[in-house]
Amino acid sequence: MYETDLLMCIAFILLFMYISDAVRDYMRYRRQFWNIRGPKTLPLTIIAYIFTARSNADRFEVLQNLSKRYPRYYSVWFGTKYLFVTDDPHVSQKLLTIPNCVEKNFFMDFFGFPRGLIAMKSDRWKYERKLLNSSFSLPVLQSYVPIFTKCIAKSIEHLKANCDKEEFDIKHDVTVVVMNAVMNTTFGKDISRDVAKIFMENTEKYLDNIWNRAMKPHYHYDIIYNLSSMKRDQDKNRKFFFDFITNEWDQIQSGNCNAADVENSFIGQLLKVSKNGRNYEIEDILDHCGTMMVAAADTMSTALNFIVLMLAMHENVQECIIKEINEVLGDECMKEDLIIDYEKLSALKYVEMTIKEALRLFTPATGLFRETKADVDLGIENIQLPKGTNLVINIYGLHRKKEIWGDDAHLFKPERFDFESSYDRSPFTFLPFSSGIRMCVGNRYAMIFMKLIVLHYVKNFHFSTSLKYEEMRVKAGITLNLIGNHSVKITRRRKERV
Ligand code: HEM
Repeated sequence: MYETDLLMCIAFILLFMYISDAVRDYMRYRRQFWNIRGPKTLPLTIIAYIFTARSNADRFEVLQNLSKRYPRYYSVWFGTKYLFVTDDPHVSQKLLTIPNCVEKNFFMDFFGFPRGLIAMKSDRWKYERKLLNSSFSLPVLQSYVPIFTKCIAKSIEHLKANCDKEEFDIKHDVTVVVMNAVMNTTFGKDISRDVAKIFMENTEKYLDNIWNRAMKPHYHYDIIYNLSSMKRDQDKNRKFFFDFITNEWDQIQSGNCNAADVENSFIGQLLKVSKNGRNYEIEDILDHCGTMMVAAADTMSTALNFIVLMLAMHENVQECIIKEINEVLGDECMKEDLIIDYEKLSALKYVEMTIKEALRLFTPATGLFRETKADVDLGIENIQLPKGTNLVINIYGLHRKKEIWGDDAHLFKPERFDFESSYDRSPFTFLPFSSGIRMCVGNRYAMIFMKLIVLHYVKNFHFSTSLKYEEMRVKAGITLNLIGNHSVKITRRRKERV
């Protein structure tokens, strides 16, 4: 009897909190809510609207349809949270370049790792980002090319076992090579396929958990979330990362590792910055390294899985890549142990166009999340955003807008990114890595690694698939997911130059 009363009491308190938040936020944002177009559902009811959809895929479609119904921007209640959502390049440019919009919103609080760059509060972020930019300088990235090449060579050896056989899901091979590269550059440590698989599984679970929490507004309240099994699982996932990082940090601090391996690694850079006066605490190291692992591995493996699928569906694109490799590398391209220098890698323009087109259609991060730190006048169509407004830039919608990309926006055409087609296009039409003040710190890292993968994979294998482009369906998570497998068939390419 007492237990039932206690549960009723807790439920009542939670309901009261929920409703008083909704009322408070409604009073705060009601003027914008009624002035800015969007579904005029009051706080809480949008949940029903979005969640009549049965699956993550349907939910994603509902959200994308809202952007189509209210072009350029709209505002909406998500639970008790007021959101301003845009898929417009001009509005996005404003939001991404105004210092008062540099703060991440509540959604990024769920990311965990509060002392890592992605989720860090803006007052500390500017200083910390300046310190860590050097970890992604060109000389550091150039020193990663041989490391990446070594990881890719291992992946190719493994893929050879699948040559001339039935179609298989290449996702596992791609995630393993990505994870190994990330571990090498973050910790100076080479890992086995099995260990890479365990890390990737943990990363995926970690990210799924964040997404599930974000999609269930009652879990936005710490008091409810902290009592849930979701929280217990997430603590376990985080502990897995933290135990590993703590061990690596102890080893590197005690000089108990190969100095050459860690010299340019991210953790090695953290040690240097720490010794130069920053004096990192262990919590900083855990969050910085945890952020890098999660931010780098999942985005790159998502991108590469879609890139490989696009190659398999577009054999003409593979032919263009082969032609370019021959032109840029000449006889060098026949070398088994080719380590390409950075200048030649930069000259692979068609490879770059192919990657960009895949990032446009299948952007790993489907949205950007910010919050206004003060009242903001966007200077566009009288849009005034009060302090505390949650901002969402719908990258997926932006990348598929016909007004920008033409009537064939849904088709895969790398030529969109050649010089003639792209020189007068605003950089804010293409935001896979975001842009402006707080854009991705690892964008050049990612492009170098992905170019190397495409170069070596296409040089070695011919890809094909029975999957049909028109039938592909995606769903959103923290990163975009294909529904179904990344099924490809691979055959060995002839050794001689084409
Ligand atoms: C295809 C690969 C990648 C994609 C699509 C991607 C995308 C993004 C996006 C959309 C953001 C959010 C920016 C914003 O809020 O404005 C971001 C931030 C970030 N990314 Fe990446 N990323 C990729 C690879 C990487 C890699 C390889 C690393 C590290 C090695 C990395 C590290 C980070 C970090 C640390 C941030 C936070 C930056 C800050 O707030 O200062 N990312 N990334």
